[in-house]
Amino acid sequence: MYTTAFLDLPPLLSAGGTIRLPGSKSISNRVLLLAGLSEGTTTVHDLLASDDTRVMLESLRTLGCGIEQAGDTVRITGLGGKLSVLNADLFLGNAGTAMRPLTAALALLSATQGGIFTLSGVPRMHERPIGDLVNALRPLGCTIECTGNEGYPPLRLAGGQLKLNEPIKVRGDVSSQFLTALLLALPLVSQDQALTIEVVGELISKPYIEITLNLLARFGIQVERQGWERFVIPQGSHYQSPGEIHVEADASSASYFIALGALAGIDQTVRIEGVGAASIQGDIRFVEAAQAMGAQVTSGPNWLEIRRGQWPLKSIEMDCNHIPDAAMTLAVMALYAEGTTRLTNIASWRVKETDRIAAMAKELGKLGAIVVEGPDFIEVTPPPAAQWQHASIHTYDDHRMAMCFSLAAFNPLAPTAAPGKPVSVRIEDPRCVGKTFPDYFESLFQVAQTDPDLIPVITIDGPTASGKGTLASALATRLGYQFLDSGSLYRLTGLLATERGLDLDDASAIEPLARQIGSAISLRFEHEHIWVDGRDVSTDLRREDMGQAASRISVHPGVRAALLDVQKAFRGLPGLVADGRDMGTVVFPDAALKVFLTATVAERAERRHKQLISKGFSANLDEICADLEARDLRDRSRAVSPLVPAHDARKLDNSALSIDESVDTVLGMWVEGWPHVIARS
Ligand code: DC
Repeated sequence: MYTTAFLDLPPLLSAGGTIRLPGSKSISNRVLLLAGLSEGTTTVHDLLASDDTRVMLESLRTLGCGIEQAGDTVRITGLGGKLSVLNADLFLGNAGTAMRPLTAALALLSATQGGIFTLSGVPRMHERPIGDLVNALRPLGCTIECTGNEGYPPLRLAGGQLKLNEPIKVRGDVSSQFLTALLLALPLVSQDQALTIEVVGELISKPYIEITLNLLARFGIQVERQGWERFVIPQGSHYQSPGEIHVEADASSASYFIALGALAGIDQTVRIEGVGAASIQGDIRFVEAAQAMGAQVTSGPNWLEIRRGQWPLKSIEMDCNHIPDAAMTLAVMALYAEGTTRLTNIASWRVKETDRIAAMAKELGKLGAIVVEGPDFIEVTPPPAAQWQHASIHTYDDHRMAMCFSLAAFNPLAPTAAPGKPVSVRIEDPRCVGKTFPDYFESLFQVAQTDPDLIPVITIDGPTASGKGTLASALATRLGYQFLDSGSLYRLTGLLATERGLDLDDASAIEPLARQIGSAISLRFEHEHIWVDGRDVSTDLRREDMGQAASRISVHPGVRAALLDVQKAFRGLPGLVADGRDMGTVVFPDAALKVFLTATVAERAERRHKQLISKGFSANLDEICADLEARDLRDRSRAVSPLVPAHDARKLDNSALSIDESVDTVLGMWVEGWPHVIARS
């Protein structure tokens, strides 16, 4: 998961390949609650690991359920309808799918078995209405207090006296989750009589109710549905664990990859595994909407394949009540359509993670799109020809905003884009995708493709012990970029040459070895470790004598040429930070930002000395000083790729700076220079 403050997406040009999606949030949290209320143990496979499921699991654990987790499989031993913990404070983050059904279940349990429960969340959760559910539960005799504002969490559930003789009325026109909450919870109190729920007002998001009914049936409860107005829970219903249950992949998450295929599946296919046309999730009907815009989709029981069909996409006018979440993806696809796309009947967007109509309108507007918003609709017209704007997209702690807007990175493909002038898309707070799809961006980069020369590079060159390695690696972490420590490739060549007894000064002996690196000699970089033909050489590479060996073999032009392609191959999505001696001058002369680090010899010798002592090596400051000077001289005066600053490098003397200060300084240069426009012919 990207935990950086922002994620800069380079211009993307095509997409193809296979991805497996994480489990559905809606199914995961319903299954967890049902398993938690059932008697016996349920093994849940393919559970979504996300913020929302985490809070549900934690709540169930707090309430006394047995929870054993191994990867995406969880074994839950349920309460069998009996409270074992009578007082609990539950924190539910921003998870509507946990807040609503837990409110209903705990209100009923507390009214029948006693106990006091408080349910709270993040500030946004306290702005999301729950009054319709509270108003359905209070007439049943549940004591529910809204401890902040009336009609909103936090809630305090404190006992009561149930009266179940009347039909239970709930409004269905703000959120279908209130009805879902009642359907999931009422079987707790259906021992002595059938229970009837009556929906007041037009029920929205009906497909989500279908998921609820479908899963209740898997847990032994056959709800009788009379139209969309009345639902009857038969007398004597009780939760029966199915033993094992698999969670389908998330159909709403699929929407981004369906859109991706429609936009960028040019002569290739985007294949999605884990969900297919027969899904029980309503958002699977996004497929029809995408097809209406031009996508070519084929599907099987648990897979979908998408490629570009009509291009440019067709604008549509569509009632999106049946696909409220996935419809956001249509609003971004509209950027690639001819004409105006109008999405209607989406009032529920206003009470989701954020006011999604307002957020969508504002951020699409930043890109140059023309947007009209109304209480329950949005109209999107792509930016006029050549009017696309660079945009830093605010994501409002809303996972779907972040995922949708990543599709704007394909702007070079847009019919109205100015040729050769892609705009930059920055996604602020990318970690918000953790709500439903923690590895969203990793999955995107797995199937999205672009020209390497469009991928931004930051180079950090400088002499030995200038701290460039530490700086570059910290910078890569802060930006979510790939990292190349080019010195390690020279050290590696030096190590293998030494082990094979080769003469380090003999170019004709070292060159053939260097040519095998990355091909006949396999390399794997993982966190701080480097594996060569399956052996971890990280510790050996850091030895002082390997630094010297590297300096010696790196003067041979043939060795440098042999390692060039290996280094260039590190230029991967979403960007690269590379450190070395000639990153800015030779390997990545087109880098977006070049930094040349300097520090006094005395300061560098001091740092190296400390480093060696901390690793348990003995070290002498004068010798280190002499050695650094000798290596600097060799690196600076060699005929090929000498250590010199690139003409366009920014010099940074970090003698008096801590590592954090150096990182902040370079990050400041990067932010200041944004957008890093990469013009193409
Ligand atoms: O950065 P380092 O100390 O790990 O590098 C070891 C040696 O490798 C250095 O003395 C010179 C050589 N080198 C190089 O010539 N070009 C690079 N891009 C990186 C390292």
